[in-house]
Amino acid sequence: MEGPRIVVDGLTKRYDSVVAAQDVGFVAEPGRVTGFLGPNGAGKTTTLRALLGLLTPTSGDATFDGTSYGRLVRPATVVGAHLEPAFHPGRTARGHLRTLAPLSGVPDSRCDEVLAMVGLAEAADRRVGGYSLGMRQRLGLATALLGDPRALVLDEPANGLDPAGITWMRAFVRAFAERGGTVLLSSHLLSEVEQTVDDVVIIARGTVRHASSLADLSALATREVALRSPDADGLARLVARWDGSTVAPDGTATVRGATAAEVGAEAFAAGLEVHHLAEHGENLEQVFLRLTKDPDPEDRLDEEAAA
Ligand SMILES: Nc1ncnc2c1ncn2[C@@H]1O[C@H](COP(=O)(O)OP(=O)(O)OP(=O)(O)O)[C@@H](O)[C@H]1O
Ligand SMILES: [Mg+2]
Repeated sequence: MEGPRIVVDGLTKRYDSVVAAQDVGFVAEPGRVTGFLGPNGAGKTTTLRALLGLLTPTSGDATFDGTSYGRLVRPATVVGAHLEPAFHPGRTARGHLRTLAPLSGVPDSRCDEVLAMVGLAEAADRRVGGYSLGMRQRLGLATALLGDPRALVLDEPANGLDPAGITWMRAFVRAFAERGGTVLLSSHLLSEVEQTVDDVVIIARGTVRHASSLADLSALATREVALRSPDADGLARLVARWDGSTVAPDGTATVRGATAAEVGAEAFAAGLEVHHLAEHGENLEQVFLRLTKDPDPEDRLDEEAAA
């Protein structure tokens, strides 16, 4: 299977008083799982809805191998999607899928296949109104899989899943991408999808703040080494070797951009007596929070003054 390349380009969606998405652009590659991450109200669902032709953008577009959703031939074979749950509570899971099967151009037998794939075979004849949140997520995924698509677009698929469910969902999308499919999934928690995604697109307040591989995102984590010494002058001389280092009034020096091992080796070579040496680093979630945070009011004033 070769999944389509999903390209979102200059996508803007404006409502009366809100800009839900502003010049959003990113690529989701086949064979990879792309996490679309941002806090509540960031513009994730708006972007995914535009991608799936469920709303008309104010400007810009989104395409699958160059073709917008509305122009796809047999779209159910290209992309399967699960956005907010839209199940009729009185229908059974099988009944829900059977109403959609003709639209996807698949026979009724496919409904039982996808229910088995998501582990709902035994609950197939229960009313969806009585389903747990996790079961609804599974049914959403079954719905997305109906047309045997080459791409999956999933809005918050991990929401409501227990740890076992998250592990299962993770394995499912990984296997799909390993077969060559394209996966684009959203979440408001990086930690929830950290073990699932290859690439990350971070959005906040309608604009993309960062897009890279997960590995390149971890490289943005800042590292600090704190150290203390009874020799204040020697300590000041040592840490001056690293740009941006500081010495606090209590005598604790902070070095940025070096490891504890590097700082320790330099201190040893300089004959400096060290009483405390500790490395602190941002974890991925902290990097994510920093990237989605609004600029400091003071920074904003600086930017305005510079403009
Ligand atoms: N139909 C609409 N009319 C007016 N404003 C809207 C509409 N749909 C979305 N918005 C606004 O656009 C912004 C982005 O909403 P969106 O649903 O895309 O965010 P999200 O990233 O999916 O958030 P969440 O994590 O809470 O699902 C929000 O401020 C929202 O209130
Ligand atoms: Mg949303």
